[in-house]
Amino acid sequence: MADTRVGWQEIVTPDDLEGHMLDIGQVKANAALIDQMLAGLRAGTRIYVPGAGTGQIFDYMKSKWSSFDYIFSDLRLDFLDRIARRMPAKVKFRLAIDDVEDSTASFTCDIALVVLVLEHVEWKKALREILKTRPREMMIVIQRNHEVGTRVVAKRKLRPSIAEFAKVATAELVEATDLIGEMKKLGFQPTWQAEREVPDSKAMQAIRFTRVTAKL
Ligand SMILES: C[S@@+](CC[C@H](N)C(=O)[O-])C[C@H]1O[C@@H](n2cnc3c(N)ncnc32)[C@H](O)[C@@H]1O
Repeated sequence: MADTRVGWQEIVTPDDLEGHMLDIGQVKANAALIDQMLAGLRAGTRIYVPGAGTGQIFDYMKSKWSSFDYIFSDLRLDFLDRIARRMPAKVKFRLAIDDVEDSTASFTCDIALVVLVLEHVEWKKALREILKTRPREMMIVIQRNHEVGTRVVAKRKLRPSIAEFAKVATAELVEATDLIGEMKKLGFQPTWQAEREVPDSKAMQAIRFTRVTAKL
């Protein structure tokens, strides 16, 4: 995934990322799925969001998300800066530049919220890195394409830096069955699942996993 990493580190601009995610209808779909997953958590729950991007999803969430305590991480400082500007003053959060494939995270959390990141990294390695933060639950959103093929970025008119990214990136979809199988090996069972249709013959799949053993 070296080319994909370079694409994220050097090519995609924050404006294009946000515009693209809106163009392809994934921001609102994911916000609704995350609202469902976060419902019922107590105030103060510590939520780790690796590969958080610019935090755009939070503009569209309706739940009591602002009562939680966040750690947002990403490869990109300028993406994290946008999160800092977005968060209302009352929200508790920390920011960390971190590589989810080779994390230096030294904190623990209650929940890890991983949205459209596994497609861009060595996902089995990333899961193990994320689990070092000892979450009791993992809330994961992945992309499913209804058409055959595993390309993440659709053939549509793309914003300039997204078009450049698509030329170099080798991001690949993760199958839900493979993800569930891997998470079971890591001691987590799927406890809730939902899917939302988005344009370009795709769906957003949300799976909530709960730890059933202490094994890593
Ligand atoms: C498709 S975007 C999703 C952003 C955000 N989770 C969302 O749903 O709006 C993928 C994000 O993963 C980040 N990313 C890619 N590779 C990464 C890595 N190795 N470590 C940490 N973040 C990474 C990118 O910088 C980008 O912000």
